[in-house]
Amino acid sequence: MYTIIDGKKVSSDIKLEIAEEVKKIREKKDKVPHLAAVLVGNDGASETYVSHKVKACEQVGFKSTLIRMESRITEKQLLDKIAELNDDQDIDGFIVQLPLPGHISEDKVIESVDPFKDVDGFHPVNLGKMTIGLPSFVPATPCGIMELLKRYDIETSGKKCVVIGRSNIVGRPVSILLSKKGVDATVTIVHSRTKNIEDIIRGAEIIIAAIGVPGFVKAGMVSEGAVIIDVGTTRVRSDKTKSGWKLKGDVDFENVAPKCSYITPVPGGVGPMTIVSLLQNTLRACKQKY
Ligand code: GUN
Repeated sequence: MYTIIDGKKVSSDIKLEIAEEVKKIREKKDKVPHLAAVLVGNDGASETYVSHKVKACEQVGFKSTLIRMESRITEKQLLDKIAELNDDQDIDGFIVQLPLPGHISEDKVIESVDPFKDVDGFHPVNLGKMTIGLPSFVPATPCGIMELLKRYDIETSGKKCVVIGRSNIVGRPVSILLSKKGVDATVTIVHSRTKNIEDIIRGAEIIIAAIGVPGFVKAGMVSEGAVIIDVGTTRVRSDKTKSGWKLKGDVDFENVAPKCSYITPVPGGVGPMTIVSLLQNTLRACKQKY
């Protein structure tokens, strides 16, 4: 029998803990943490993610500001807005929702965010600090994955862990966190150029699937008793939902789950944890300031 890792439940527990801290800060400092989000254009998925982030801020008592910019703005206009947010004393942390329109360099944008306000943890300074084990903002999804493993008491020390995908947002940072001292997993990253990818995944005791290919991980690729963390959130058409689409993970859940010891569902697994990690980073940014 397998256990479903309930990210929704864990994230609502953590939100209660955050709300308690917000209360204390409000009483002591007469202010609450303030997160700003910049949304360029109106990509459907980004709209949904950002609205979830704003809603989560309300739930824990944070102040939030949503800044919408049209997709045809210039790179300079976005960089000017970021400079403004860097200087705004009331804002503790902010994010620029990715992806950005093709004419704007994501690297330049990420590098222009003040590392002390970079609650996404994407700035090279934060990624560098994380890599050598210094305190830093850790990207939200990897941070959420680590929290789930911890709260479900899943042993990582000495475990063979395969991370599928090497993105800067998930695959690469989570592989670093899993291999660090104290976590101590033996980590392999596999990607589109990996040979014998199925054999390597089959050898894993912990699988982190983060490639964005719905249903990629099949039952035949998973060994008995594996722990599976599914980071995939691809929108696929569905005639069963009002919106006309539903989220599908990177794992063929129905057939894979019976072989696992633990598995995250999509939705309700990693997704809610990503948002709560962003709140934790913002709370930290606010506390650091005082
Ligand atoms: N796009 C997909 N995931 C993320 C995220 O965690 N932060 C930002 N800013 N954009 C994203």
